[in-house]
Amino acid sequence: MAKEMCHLITLLAFSFCCLTFAFDPKPLQDFCVADPNSSVFINGMACKNPMQIQANDFYFRGLHLRGNTSNPFGFMVQPVTVAQLPGLNTLGISMVRIDYAPWGINPPHTHPRATEIITVLEGTLQVGFITSYPEYRLITKVLYKGDVFVFPVGLVHFQQNVGNKSAVAIGALSSQNPGAIFVGNAVFGSNPTISSDILAKAFQVDKKVVDLLKAKF
Ligand SMILES: *[C@@H]1O[C@H](CO)[C@@H](O)[C@H](O)[C@H]1NC(C)=O
Ligand SMILES: *[C@@H]1O[C@H](CO)[C@@H](O)[C@H](O)[C@H]1NC(C)=O
Ligand SMILES: *[C@@H]1O[C@H](CO)[C@@H](O)[C@H](O)[C@H]1NC(C)=O
Repeated sequence: MAKEMCHLITLLAFSFCCLTFAFDPKPLQDFCVADPNSSVFINGMACKNPMQIQANDFYFRGLHLRGNTSNPFGFMVQPVTVAQLPGLNTLGISMVRIDYAPWGINPPHTHPRATEIITVLEGTLQVGFITSYPEYRLITKVLYKGDVFVFPVGLVHFQQNVGNKSAVAIGALSSQNPGAIFVGNAVFGSNPTISSDILAKAFQVDKKVVDLLKAKF
């Protein structure tokens, strides 16, 4: 019994350690405004001299602007991560505005470092994410104005505007630098490209199909 308890405690301790590391580290000071000119390589970005920070380091203007959705997918993302708003450095949070043309999609992708919670400001979105191996279950729902939906960290997810009007959503993400991996681009559009032999075997299709897909990305 005591031995089982000990195993349970070890397991719990292990889960706590790894849950902590699944998100951006906690700040050790009030702020650490990113210094884009620093040549120091650290996890995150080096701090600007705190005596030289200004209100504008914590500020971004532009999320009222409609994104240009004239592209084959019919969507546009305006990120507000540490790259656009240096005051986000070390704070473990960021946001995006996503615009969708009628029937436009935000193609399947993952954020390797963040959970994303979105709210629909205008329009109707079909959203979904896929659970991980071995289940691969699709969790999907239609969202209307004011609805909120969460995409758990790391899972492949997508959105489609299922209305005849343009749609807008705002997303919040649990990392200053969530990253984005679009499945199609990563697999078929890498640089240099993954060999067609590998992809043909991986997807169990003819090399011609792979080459067609590679040409799209
Ligand atoms: C980075 O360097 C450029 C060029 O020297 C300078 O104009 C800019 O103000 C610097 N940025 C910061 C945040 O120190
Ligand atoms: C939107 O993007 C398309 C394609 O890149 C471009 O041709 C068009 O001029 C852009 N429209 C605006 C209003 O910027
Ligand atoms: C979109 O427009 C088409 C054609 O006008 C119409 O048949 C359809 O019902 C509309 N769909 C929605 C969701 O409004």
